[in-house]
Amino acid sequence: MSLEVGAGMLLQCMAPCDEVCGGWRASIHWKNRERAMNKEFEGKKLLVVGGSSGIGLKTASAVMSEGGSAVIVGHRPEKLKQAHEELSALGEVSTIQADLSSKEGRDALLKTIDDDHSDVDLLVNAAGVFFPKPFLEHEESDYEQYMSLNKAFFFVTKKVAANIIARDRAGAVVNIGSMWAKQAIAATPSSAYSMAKAGLHSLTQHLAMELAHKRIRVNAVSPAVVRTPIYEGFIPKDQVDEALQGFNDFHPIGRTGTAQDVSSVVSFLLSDKAAWVTGAVWDVDGGVMAGRNK
Ligand SMILES: NC(=O)c1ccc[n+]([C@@H]2O[C@H](COP(=O)([O-])OP(=O)(O)OC[C@H]3O[C@@H](n4cnc5c(N)ncnc54)[C@H](OP(=O)(O)O)[C@@H]3O)[C@@H](O)[C@H]2O)c1
Repeated sequence: MSLEVGAGMLLQCMAPCDEVCGGWRASIHWKNRERAMNKEFEGKKLLVVGGSSGIGLKTASAVMSEGGSAVIVGHRPEKLKQAHEELSALGEVSTIQADLSSKEGRDALLKTIDDDHSDVDLLVNAAGVFFPKPFLEHEESDYEQYMSLNKAFFFVTKKVAANIIARDRAGAVVNIGSMWAKQAIAATPSSAYSMAKAGLHSLTQHLAMELAHKRIRVNAVSPAVVRTPIYEGFIPKDQVDEALQGFNDFHPIGRTGTAQDVSSVVSFLLSDKAAWVTGAVWDVDGGVMAGRNK
């Protein structure tokens, strides 16, 4: 018996058998089928800006698990090293250390992309920080820390898109936006953060329009509360889990999200399975945008 397993691949049974295989023959089918299906990203190179932690790290892991290679960008060298160790078990990965809040950091990253990674096919803009603060207490530096990351996303995306077009390849970009850009939450005032994320949602739609005919799809996800180290910026590390428990009921689904809840949607949007999706900003939020429990 032969089996069509996608991507035009035909698997042959190791022994002749009836239309419906039994026992070990069936398990050969399934093992082969699994192997063939796990190659969604074979030959694809992913760049994750903010890939040393949380959602970005899980996305790199998902893409590498399906045959892709990854380049991850992060700020803190020790976290990058740890992420590199974790990901190298899955395949080819390299790291770039950069502080994207500075012009020097952004410029150095753009140069490294051209010098070493002009063959990137897939891009995820995931870098972020989150420090809830009342609007009236915002200083210029609070505002700039969010806008400077958007500036980095803008020019990194331009660089990667130009390289994809120059190589006459197809590509996909996913931006990590935020539910806070769509709805303000009293417990977590975040005007500058959310203004930046709303800008990223808008950039997603504009680039989708401009790059569709160049075979580059651009989408975003808009997560609610996801349990990642981002909360360690303003909650002591040993209290984050407990503090986030308080947000479970806020989500109609009854719990906060995991990095994997989000990365599975991001990797779907990066894949050819989402070939007809561009310009979308998907709520990946346990149902919060449909309605909140409180
Ligand atoms: N977690 C949530 O509840 C949630 C909800 C909605 C949206 N989001 C968004 O999801 C994205 C991913 O966040 P996460 O929750 O996965 O957080 P995370 O685990 O803290 O990851 C953030 C990543 O961004 C990098 N980064 C931050 N500032 C940087 C800088 N100046 N230069 C270079 N890299 C920098 C971090 O590197 P270092 O660790 O080395 O600093 C890390 O790799 C963010 O854009 C965030 O706004 C998160």
